[in-house]
Amino acid sequence: MRNKRNATIALVLGVVACLVGGWLLLRGATSLETFPLNTLNPQGRKADEIFDLVIMVFVIAGIIFVIVEVGVLWMINRFRRSPDDVDGVDEPVQVHGNTGLEIGWTIVPALILAFLAVFNANTILKMDDVSDNAIDVTVVGQQWWWEFRYDLDSDGAVDIITASQLVMPEDTDVELSIQSRDVIHSFWIPALNGKKDAVPGRTQPLVLQAYEPGIYQGQCTEFCGLSHGVMRMQVKVLTDSDWEEWKSIMTTVPDQPDPSDTDAVEGQKLFVQQCTGCHQVD
Ligand code: CUA
Repeated sequence: MRNKRNATIALVLGVVACLVGGWLLLRGATSLETFPLNTLNPQGRKADEIFDLVIMVFVIAGIIFVIVEVGVLWMINRFRRSPDDVDGVDEPVQVHGNTGLEIGWTIVPALILAFLAVFNANTILKMDDVSDNAIDVTVVGQQWWWEFRYDLDSDGAVDIITASQLVMPEDTDVELSIQSRDVIHSFWIPALNGKKDAVPGRTQPLVLQAYEPGIYQGQCTEFCGLSHGVMRMQVKVLTDSDWEEWKSIMTTVPDQPDPSDTDAVEGQKLFVQQCTGCHQVD
């Protein structure tokens, strides 16, 4: 009696723990604040296409898992050796070497994989779709930061350069050409698309698009040296008007100091001598 009560309490506690754990997991999986590097929270068209494929594959794999597990449990129960069958005379019929069965369980998984491959290939092809008015940005992986070179009018000349933060307008395709200056890095903004390696000597395409303004975090995902772990990247998506304002600020030459302001002239001289090796004023 007491054992039965303890077993019931353990079962209830187990179910409650599963429910609370599952709820926390799902809650975390839907929050960009707690889990910014999360592929299960798509925020753009490309990420949505990947997510739809993931869910479909997961559901099919889940159904197969349930069928296999139920079959295993049924067979454990149905064909287990009874305690009084000491000599094993009641052993079930052995099916090892049954040609029909072996062909069957080779063909069925092959058909399932072929079915999934159609959707996989379709999604891979969709990844290359890009609108005609896409913004061209060359991404250069460097030890240990990301350089973004904007070619706003598609004339081959670089108009704006930013470091570690890619700024783009909402609901607009940005066509990235990913390169590397030194070693292999990997570009990854999980809320907007999958990963793409930055390989020296190669140019890899990737399209980003975000539905809403916001900050989307990323992380280099190829071990590229001692500071690999701090090699982050960020996409800042602006409203159309903020984007126009940002572009004009970034492409306007800064004011020159008033020649009569000797402190400012001195400061500019110092800046040009000491700071412009690494920094720039936009
Ligand atoms: Cu760059 Cu890791």
